[in-house]
Amino acid sequence: MSVKRIGILTSGGDSPGMNAAIRAVVRSAIYYGLEVYGIKRGYAGLLKEEIEPMTTLSVGGIINRGGTILRSARCEEFKTPEGLQKGAAVLDKYGIDALVIIGGDGSMRGGVELSQISPVKVMGLPGTIDNDIPGTDYSIGFDTAVNTALDAIDKVRDTAYSHDRVFVIEVMGRHKGFIALEVGLAGGAEAILIPEVPYDLVDLLDKLREGYDRGKTSSIIVVAEGAARAEDVKQFLQEHTPYHLRALVLGHMQRGGAPTAFDRVLATQLGVFAVQRLLDGHTNEMVGVEGGRLVAVPIEYIQTATKTIDLRKLEVASMMAI
Ligand code: ADP
Ligand code: F6P
Repeated sequence: MSVKRIGILTSGGDSPGMNAAIRAVVRSAIYYGLEVYGIKRGYAGLLKEEIEPMTTLSVGGIINRGGTILRSARCEEFKTPEGLQKGAAVLDKYGIDALVIIGGDGSMRGGVELSQISPVKVMGLPGTIDNDIPGTDYSIGFDTAVNTALDAIDKVRDTAYSHDRVFVIEVMGRHKGFIALEVGLAGGAEAILIPEVPYDLVDLLDKLREGYDRGKTSSIIVVAEGAARAEDVKQFLQEHTPYHLRALVLGHMQRGGAPTAFDRVLATQLGVFAVQRLLDGHTNEMVGVEGGRLVAVPIEYIQTATKTIDLRKLEVASMMAI
């Protein structure tokens, strides 16, 4: 049966570019003669029937806005068999035959579960600053988050230099180190701690001392939240060195702000591609980009695959920190 009415929701941690993705899905669906219903607050709003028709005008003036006009949420009830059944019944009630889910790996898992109990055609779009979703080189929001964190680190470096200080800066990324590695490399960090690589704080201490012995007077250490807490690293270093240390947690500012051109273009291309895949009869997929090309993988792929980090970048960063 061909698709006539698409539902769209954003779920999990928001990310810059989600609005551009919503706009692309809504406008391309209408372009192809489909109807679109916006579902507010992710799976929570689905269960509460927070559902409204969307038009081309509903998505005007949002390509440049961070956050998500559909709002986002986390919903424990949707993880239960009863919650899933309820969600499927609501989609049926509204005549929604395809559901576009924009979110992180948890949100995609929700899509997998739904696809197993409902005839709705599920299409996922990777939207998370963490960039931890397999099946795509980039998720929507990662580039913006990296640039936001980098801007902050550049500013901190100015004051670190002026005051001869060591800053330990904690960035987001949940269980992965993609943001830390990228901003650490781009920001010229003296050290980068990520969850993918075991580290020893004594080695970090030695590295810091060696840098000071060579004449360094300030340093930036980037820590992924999944690897360590900035405060703990700072405490350890402070106990063993005379340097002036500060810890800084960048936090949720990394999730906000206007999306970069890269994220807007990625979101727009993926949104249109998602609708085209549905119209071509594909279902239960996640769209992404690999090697510069738009791709689609079975949505179950996110359950079996793991996204690996390019550790050569860590070696390069280490080489630059001498
Ligand atoms: P993200 O999508 O950013 O990774 P979460 O991991 O918090 O964020 O997941 C977002 C939401 O997706 C959860 O609150 C829940 O509603 C839904 N979800 C996650 N895992 C499952 C699952 N196994 N089954 C059903 N729904 C799930
Ligand atoms: O998944 C996005 C993310 O920002 C992670 O980087 C972080 O660990 C988490 O969400 C924070 O979640 P919350 O908004 O619930 O504090």
